[in-house]
Amino acid sequence: MQLFLVNFILIVYALSSFVRADAVTDAIQLQGLASNTADTVFASLNGTAYLNTSDLVSKVAVAIQSADSMVMSNVSSPGTANVTLNDAYFNYVNSMLYLADTVQRRGRLFHSELNLPVYQSLQNLSSAVSTYGHDLASENLIQRNSTIRTLTTSSAIVRAQSSWANNQNYPGKRETLSWSG
Ligand SMILES: *[C@@H]1O[C@H](CO)[C@@H](O)[C@H](O)[C@H]1NC(C)=O
Ligand SMILES: *[C@@H]1O[C@H](CO)[C@@H](O)[C@H](O)[C@H]1NC(C)=O
Ligand SMILES: *[C@@H]1O[C@H](CO)[C@@H](O)[C@H](O)[C@H]1NC(C)=O
Ligand SMILES: *[C@@H]1O[C@H](CO)[C@@H](O)[C@H](O)[C@H]1NC(C)=O
Ligand SMILES: *[C@@H]1O[C@H](CO)[C@@H](O)[C@H](O)[C@H]1NC(C)=O
Ligand SMILES: *[C@@H]1O[C@H](CO)[C@@H](O)[C@H](O)[C@H]1NC(C)=O
Repeated sequence: MQLFLVNFILIVYALSSFVRADAVTDAIQLQGLASNTADTVFASLNGTAYLNTSDLVSKVAVAIQSADSMVMSNVSSPGTANVTLNDAYFNYVNSMLYLADTVQRRGRLFHSELNLPVYQSLQNLSSAVSTYGHDLASENLIQRNSTIRTLTTSSAIVRAQSSWANNQNYPGKRETLSWSG
């Protein structure tokens, strides 16, 4: 339980300290947020810990959206590929891959949360990841290896969605609500 609390605090901290110095800092902070979130989800795979996965995923999606609008509103002249930014972006998108994989694994286990909100938040995550990657690539701010990694990550998010796509609320054996609200 304490682990979850610590992770929760880290995530809140990462969100509230989303102070934008520049695009590189944004990418580094996104990486931290994505990997903290993934660690929280990973730790839940072992037990029955309650997690609001939809909420966790949505927060990452919103953070990516705001990093994207910040960098796009700031682009004044055609950018040039910047190795520092490319590396930071590459690390961020790798963390997103880890997040997508852990969310997929949680979706495959029995979980006491509804599928649909998680499915929808993954939809938002998917479009945030694609848009951010597309925007940076079209401004030539990131390089080809990062673009390819973005596509890999997008596929992983689609796979994660498929593990939260059941019509029944929950995969697994139980069919009735074990909790409400
Ligand atoms: C946006 O531009 C301002 C002013 O040039 C700069 O201080 C800031 O770091 C930039 N932010 C990003 C995300 O590029
Ligand atoms: C789950 O718990 C077992 C025993 O406590 C431990 O060996 C294993 O590494 C844990 N797995 C995860 C995913 O945390
Ligand atoms: C998950 O969090 C969101 C936003 O905080 C909230 O609207 C939703 O009701 C929560 N879901 C559950 C099952 O607690
Ligand atoms: C890349 O971006 C970083 C952070 O904005 C900056 O400090 C660095 O000078 C840039 N490097 C090049 C080669 O433009
Ligand atoms: C997805 O994004 C839309 C538009 O920003 C928002 O209205 C909706 O609440 C988001 N859904 C989830 C589950 O985060
Ligand atoms: C991506 O490609 C650039 C340019 O070819 C290279 O400098 C960088 O090290 C590569 N990054 C990774 C993580 O492979």
